[in-house]
Amino acid sequence: MQRSESDRLHEEALNHLVGGVNSPVRAFKSVHGNPIYFKKASGAIVTDADGNEMIDFVQSWGPLIHGHAHPEILESVNEKMINGTSFGAPHLGEIELAKIVKKRFTHMDLVRFVSSGTEAVMSAVRLARGYTKRDFLVKFDGCYHGHVDSLMVSSGSGLATFGIASSPGIPKETVATTLISPLNDEGAIEFLFNEHGNDIAAVVIEPLPANNGLLVQSKSFLMKLRKLCDEYGALLIFDEVISGFRFKQGSYGDMCGVKPDITALGKVIGGGLPVGAYGARKEIMQKLSPLGPVYQAGTLSGNPLAMAAGCKTLELLDNDAYDKLECLGSLLEHHVEPVLKKHGFPMRLVRLGSLFWFSPGSGQLPSRADQIPKNAGKMYSDVHKGLLERGIMLAPSAYEIGFIATAHKDNHIISMANALDEVLTELEM
Ligand SMILES: Cc1ncc(COP(=O)(O)O)c(C=O)c1O
Repeated sequence: MQRSESDRLHEEALNHLVGGVNSPVRAFKSVHGNPIYFKKASGAIVTDADGNEMIDFVQSWGPLIHGHAHPEILESVNEKMINGTSFGAPHLGEIELAKIVKKRFTHMDLVRFVSSGTEAVMSAVRLARGYTKRDFLVKFDGCYHGHVDSLMVSSGSGLATFGIASSPGIPKETVATTLISPLNDEGAIEFLFNEHGNDIAAVVIEPLPANNGLLVQSKSFLMKLRKLCDEYGALLIFDEVISGFRFKQGSYGDMCGVKPDITALGKVIGGGLPVGAYGARKEIMQKLSPLGPVYQAGTLSGNPLAMAAGCKTLELLDNDAYDKLECLGSLLEHHVEPVLKKHGFPMRLVRLGSLFWFSPGSGQLPSRADQIPKNAGKMYSDVHKGLLERGIMLAPSAYEIGFIATAHKDNHIISMANALDEVLTELEM
């Protein structure tokens, strides 16, 4: 595929935008290429600035569960837009979206809308600290919760350790109260609680970690977190910014039989417009301003266009939609796994519903960050490049997952498998 216009735009963007992008992973650095500039998108297909069409398995990193520019979502947004783009005042749309969210996330009595997943998690953490009157947080190595200062922490050595900020600009005092534990390790989290349990305000986790590959956790590990939080009076925060509304059964927490105290949401609930949300039972949410002392606010929070896009997106997510997503997911498995096997390529497909990840290596599937082979990046970048040349768009990083939308069709999935077959054949030469 020829991409001269994308390359030209990138050269120009470098003069005006940091690294030419507004979010680092878009820069294609980890797959050693230039970013692709998009011109338009519809359903499962994106068209780049050079007019190339690609089948998109990124879907704006998850929000577009019905694909790009879904006509009914566009219509809902258009209808609202003519009555004003932002009110900075309460309106019916906020109540409607809150009601739909609460139907699935039944531990929520009250919801607060914000404008991003980062804001949702950041605010949930503040609320948990305000509610418990404690400062310590536990987060897990390999989970991403947005660029929240106190959660931008990588693990050090040892069973569990105090965090070291993973970005300059974060004072060490900010992360001094963040404790890191490995995922899916009951002994490590128990040890942490034994040491610091009475100071821990909250345990924050993606119950389905999906930002460092797709690291499926055992139910017993998630149950252990619930048990320890109850025992020590800490709150359990589930970050379902990716997993929320991806599964028919309701929340991912419900699927595992574990109820968190607070859930943070984003992505799907905004249908492609900027939204985040967090919610919990009344007793916790009442600590939030204007009812309580914990402050959190937002000029564009509850934006009417975002609420409309979210309501229509969730309304379209009926049982048929989830069944379709599951069928497409299993079709992907059915076609891709034999291709990987045929070539003896050391990668497996991990798939849950409409989320998937090419997991590097051939041993046991990883459930912790440190189990992902170190050569993941190199192996993936060759596959990514080959697929892109054949019109298949996957995320430009070995650690990012893929997203299937209801707009995908069987032939899109089969095209990906066929393209993969060609790429792996080429790599063998
Ligand atoms: C699990 C999780 N939490 C939080 C965030 C941050 O969301 P946003 O990028 O909307 O700020 C992300 C973003 O990818 C995420 O995957």
